[in-house]
Amino acid sequence: MERLAWGGKGVAHGSDGRLLLLEAPLALFPGETVEAQVIWKAHHGEGRVTRWITRDPRRVPAACPVAAVCGGCELWEAGGHGPALKRQMVEDLFRRQLGEVDWTWRPAPPEARRHRIQLHWDGTALGYFRRHSHALVPVSACPAAAEPLSAALPRLLDALEGGALPHRPQRWELATGTPAREVRATDERGRTWRLEPDGWTRDEDPLRHDLGATVLKHGPGAFFQVSPPWAAQAFGDLLEGWDLRGGTLFDLYGGVGLFSALLGRRFVHRMLVESGEEAVAWARQNLEALGLSSECLVADADAWVPEGLGAPGDLILLDPPRAGLTPGLCERLQTAGAETLVLVGCDGAAFCRDLKRLAPAWRLEALAALDLFPLTSLVECVALLRR
Ligand SMILES: C[S@@+](CC[C@H](N)C(=O)[O-])C[C@H]1O[C@@H](n2cnc3c(N)ncnc32)[C@H](O)[C@@H]1O
Repeated sequence: MERLAWGGKGVAHGSDGRLLLLEAPLALFPGETVEAQVIWKAHHGEGRVTRWITRDPRRVPAACPVAAVCGGCELWEAGGHGPALKRQMVEDLFRRQLGEVDWTWRPAPPEARRHRIQLHWDGTALGYFRRHSHALVPVSACPAAAEPLSAALPRLLDALEGGALPHRPQRWELATGTPAREVRATDERGRTWRLEPDGWTRDEDPLRHDLGATVLKHGPGAFFQVSPPWAAQAFGDLLEGWDLRGGTLFDLYGGVGLFSALLGRRFVHRMLVESGEEAVAWARQNLEALGLSSECLVADADAWVPEGLGAPGDLILLDPPRAGLTPGLCERLQTAGAETLVLVGCDGAAFCRDLKRLAPAWRLEALAALDLFPLTSLVECVALLRR
């Protein structure tokens, strides 16, 4: 296996030179020799590793008992070398997609944990989906999750089995605030219960994240960063270093206001655009409470962005969902009046594609990758662009 491609797949070549993409649970290290079941297509092959012939000496025993089958994490056997593997993967992606560019890498601190996890209850068992399957892997603890969430798993199972919570098969989200203490369970209908010493109690209160000087609240269903304290620190340090300031901050795909909260004081005006009605209501409250009066709009950011958006001195910050920006939006951003743009993306391939689409008008000034999703092959990419 020669190198790691974006998404954590190992790249090898068949004897006829055809590209071979290999997938393995628990991480692949470049240089390892493996056996794999391969399906050959016209121009490439795709395979799953079935046995290691030589193993990288850095490989460690997984610290999670279900790591080999659970679809939640991929890098348990990489241990402390996981961040270095991801760095190699990002390096490969950026070099192939963007050429020789400078970029900075921020590994995750060892204590970063997930503050929300999605579980499935099938009427008898509670767990995560197996890799590539909708079959359940029952779990009674999750070392990738914040400790109170992991400790709440047996309590959730008890309540589902005993009928204290709705028994019908469905997906559940367990979430906690920052610092991680209180635990909420939310069902598919958005109904939420808080875990108390004597059981689960219906709850309408928001989750609260104390992130240094910033407090952000949101309903349990709204999007928020998976590891909030680590994400706020990593984004905060990066954006602080870029010293962005000016007239209007356009926080597009703004969620409940994380970037407006982190950057808002450096701008005279703030405008947040987000499609989720509930998220916008929370953004308004959050920013108001921080003394950062902002115009917060419920809108499709893609459709909302006009030709000629902003003026010199303004910042357009875009943090779209994984699929990235549409070609039409990239086209309209070519004529923006603003001269600074920040693009955030958790799918590196879509992110590089969008940088290339923006390139006619926008020059890449700085690039960073943040390991916001430890134990998985996902990475948050952030670019600073100038007109
Ligand atoms: C990756 S999240 C970023 C949220 C926020 N920037 C943060 O870091 O907490 C993407 C956000 O875009 C919102 N969204 C998805 N499609 C959208 C659209 N077409 N227009 C506006 N917002 C959208 C989602 O609801 C979600 O809150």
